[in-house]
Amino acid sequence: MIKAKNLTKVFNSGFLFSKNTITAVDEVNFEIGKGEILALVGESGSGKSTIGKMMLKLLKPSGGQILLEDKDIFSISNNKEFYSKVQGIFQDPYSSFNPIFKVNRIFKLVRQSFKKEVPASEWNDRVENVLKKVGLNAGDVLNKYIHQLSGGQLQRLLIARALLMDVEVLVADEITSMLDASTRVDVLEALLSLKEIGAAIMFITHDLSQAYYISDKIVVLYRGSIVEMGSIEKVFSNPRHPYTQMLLDSIPQLDRKWETDRIDIEDSDKKQAIWKEGLCKYIDRCPIADTSCFKPTLKLVEEDHYVACVKL
Ligand SMILES: Nc1ncnc2c1ncn2[C@@H]1O[C@H](COP(=O)(O)OP(=O)(O)OP(=O)(O)O)[C@@H](O)[C@H]1O
Ligand SMILES: [Mg+2]
Repeated sequence: MIKAKNLTKVFNSGFLFSKNTITAVDEVNFEIGKGEILALVGESGSGKSTIGKMMLKLLKPSGGQILLEDKDIFSISNNKEFYSKVQGIFQDPYSSFNPIFKVNRIFKLVRQSFKKEVPASEWNDRVENVLKKVGLNAGDVLNKYIHQLSGGQLQRLLIARALLMDVEVLVADEITSMLDASTRVDVLEALLSLKEIGAAIMFITHDLSQAYYISDKIVVLYRGSIVEMGSIEKVFSNPRHPYTQMLLDSIPQLDRKWETDRIDIEDSDKKQAIWKEGLCKYIDRCPIADTSCFKPTLKLVEEDHYVACVKL
């Protein structure tokens, strides 16, 4: 349904005389089918949100494509048509709502903008049903302003909105990270109702246990490149890339944001190697790396399981 093909994003940073470029996303390929949830994980700065923003047409790729039903999303010039199919939910739900509207009005606007064909009375029933599906009571929320609702309620309202719009693709970028543990489960459950209607969901998270709880597939990103990808069961039960193994080993510390706790490079071979173009990006942290770790590309290690490591 939605597919990234050699997706690349290079940012320019620095000032006039010290221009630098950062390859935030480096030739990434993945696809999410109808009714599938793909978890995108990787430490801070690995390029997760940049991928999400490109899928939402909020950033233009520097290379490659994103295909929605085989059509490049940047060739869809009608934004209304695009956003009726593809929606995003972010860490801070407050920013996604107009604060001067009551919830009721927000849902009315969804009908006016995207579902004019549905009669008003039927729409009200749909709203009530969808709210129930995401664990909210219409009477409790419809007459409230955004600031009168909790973060967990707002995230569920955004999922309800996506359900009402029958979205085909949802990008959820760290939507539970501002919530307490019990509310998180409610939001994840609400997300599953979107999967039920056949949406393709990109679930961006730092939390591997949440990824495991709701996803079908996983993509592990390291400095803009995919190091491991496949069915969630296979990657979790048999992680093959040293980076994925390290991540899964640190699961007990899930609430900690991953740090770039780069190890000191003692091995001078590795130190030399880092400065050479094309060497594995994980070389300075990898326990099994040496200078042969050149240009790792994703290889099939078993059905539905790919790893980018030359040592395998
Ligand atoms: N607008 C921008 N201009 C320049 N560099 C950027 C821009 N947006 C992101 N970057 C850089 O791109 C890289 C990837 O950032 P991104 O926000 O995608 O990471 P992330 O995986 O979502 O991290 P986090 O887990 O902290 O949200 C980082 O090095 C970041 O500094
Ligand atoms: Mg991010």
